[in-house]
This record gives sequence, structure tokens and C-alpha cells, in this order.
Amino acid sequence: MHTIKVHDKTFTTYLSEEQLQSRIKELADYINKDFEGKKVVFIAILNGSFMFAADIFKHLTVDSEVSFIKLASYKGLNSTGSVTTAIGLDTDLHNRHVVILEDIIDTGKTLHHFLPQLQHQQPASLKIVTLLHKAEMTQYEVPIDYTGFVIPNKFVVGYGLDYDGLGRNYKEIYQLAD
Ligand code: XMP
Ligand code: MG
Repeated sequence: MHTIKVHDKTFTTYLSEEQLQSRIKELADYINKDFEGKKVVFIAILNGSFMFAADIFKHLTVDSEVSFIKLASYKGLNSTGSVTTAIGLDTDLHNRHVVILEDIIDTGKTLHHFLPQLQHQQPASLKIVTLLHKAEMTQYEVPIDYTGFVIPNKFVVGYGLDYDGLGRNYKEIYQLAD
């Protein structure tokens, strides 16, 4: 078991680089199959999903566009409950096949509030991919189509995910030590 320190907290290895990469390849395979012959626009939610988006993208064989948007709603170890609007959504999604790429869905609040903004544009289809899902934390129903890993309610960092700005720069995902 590998231990890292981020700010004042200790984290231990939870998902290895191999586990992450092989699951990401599987998720890409599902998408390639489900969208065969179609053109897809991926919307990656910054900041957390930047590594996930880059890695899943390398395995896509369908015609794929990507747009990165920002929806900051989280500070520190607990959800603040404040959701800001999307910054950088400059693609016309009308009649497009849209796939959202998220790093983690916790209570579901962020996407629950953001989805209507996308649906408003009347996409041809709208799917959600999340690398991680804290399923036991669900407070707002979000229709998740592809999940990498269902994880327990413990704070995680690494592979794009941060604790107060730090910890994104790891190939693995780490869990807050007890
Ligand atoms: P909701 O509750 O809206 O939360 O589904 C989604 C956002 O919360 C952040 N989040 C985390 N970030 N480690 C993180 O680095 C975690 O364990 C964690 N849990 C939730 C994240 O920004 C996500 O987009
Ligand atoms: Mg996020």
C-alpha cells in the first residue's frame, strides 16, 4: 500500500493505474459500440475530469468532438451546495449526440442542476459517463449511463481529483486514510 500526503491529510492507494486504465478502455469500448456510425460531442467537466477525458479519448473510434466546460461547485472535503453555471459551453448541441464526461458523481447535485441547461438545447441524445460514483451518497437522481467504479463515501484524490487544489498529479486514485 502506497501512502501520500496532500496538505495536512494522509491518503492511501485505492485504484491502481492498471485498474483505472483497463476500466477506462472498457468504458470506451461500450461507447464505441453504442455510438457506432454516429458522431459524438463529449463534454468534459473541468477541472477534475481532465485526465479521464484525455485517457478515454485515446480509445475512442467513433467520430468524437470534445468541449471542456467548468462548473465549480466544491470546496474542501464537503460539498458546499453551491452550483455555478457552465463556463465555456460554446458548442451548439441541437440534434447532437452528447456524452458528458465526469470524474466523480457524489450527491448528484452538480449534474442534476446542469442537465436541464443541456436538455434545453434539445440534443439528439444525452448520456453520462462518470469514472467514479459515490452511490451511497445519492441525493439527486442523475441518469448515469456508464460508471467506471462505484466507490464508498471516502474522500479521494489523484488522477485529476484534488483536495483543495492539490493531489491531481497522480496516475492512481488515493483514499483518505482513517
Ligand atoms: P455532487 O455532489 O454534485 O459532487 O455530485 C460532484 C463534485 O464534487 C466533487 N467531489 C470530489 N472531489 N474527491 C474530490 O476530489 C472526492 O472524493 C469528491 N467527492 C465529490 C467533484 O468536484 C465532483 O465534480
Ligand atoms: Mg468535478
